[in-house]
Amino acid sequence: MDSAKCINYTSMCENDTEKIGADVANKCSPGTVVILDGDLGAGKTVFSRGFARALGIDEPVSSPTYTIVQEYELPERGRLYHLDLYRISGVSAALAFGVDEFLNDPSSYALVEWPERIEGILPEDAVKVRLKHAGEGKREITVEF
Ligand SMILES: Nc1ncnc2c1ncn2[C@@H]1O[C@H](COP(=O)(O)OP(=O)(O)O)[C@@H](O)[C@H]1O
Ligand SMILES: [Mg+2]
Repeated sequence: MDSAKCINYTSMCENDTEKIGADVANKCSPGTVVILDGDLGAGKTVFSRGFARALGIDEPVSSPTYTIVQEYELPERGRLYHLDLYRISGVSAALAFGVDEFLNDPSSYALVEWPERIEGILPEDAVKVRLKHAGEGKREITVEF
């Protein structure tokens, strides 16, 4: 029944974290929601940049903290939605914002920074990424598929 697969990565620099993001993207298919758990500066956005690169997105990728969502067109079809819910107070605010649309698009991917804001409405089958500070420049990254 429980087919959850877990991968533990150690990142020694920003570039490692980008590569890990790309590696995870290559293991995901369209319709996947990836939740990114970790403190400020843990590397959620760096990971997202690597993930986006692996999907063929060349545009700059930074945290959409003020706009909440940034959409990127994928080369073939579908989009990557990069959500930063830091400024969203909770589920009702997220729903009013239209978060549903981004979490339920079968041809697209969604990356969610600060997923704890919408705990109750995250898809059960989301890929869970935890990023932890582990000393100067070092991060422990756990991915649960
Ligand atoms: N191993 C590492 N992986 C990712 N980022 C790192 C690493 N070491 C240092 N950093 C730095 O930590 C910061 C991570 O920032 P960011 O990805 O925006 O964090 P978050 O989105 O989690 O708040 C960047 O300034 C980056 O250069
Ligand atoms: Mg960020």
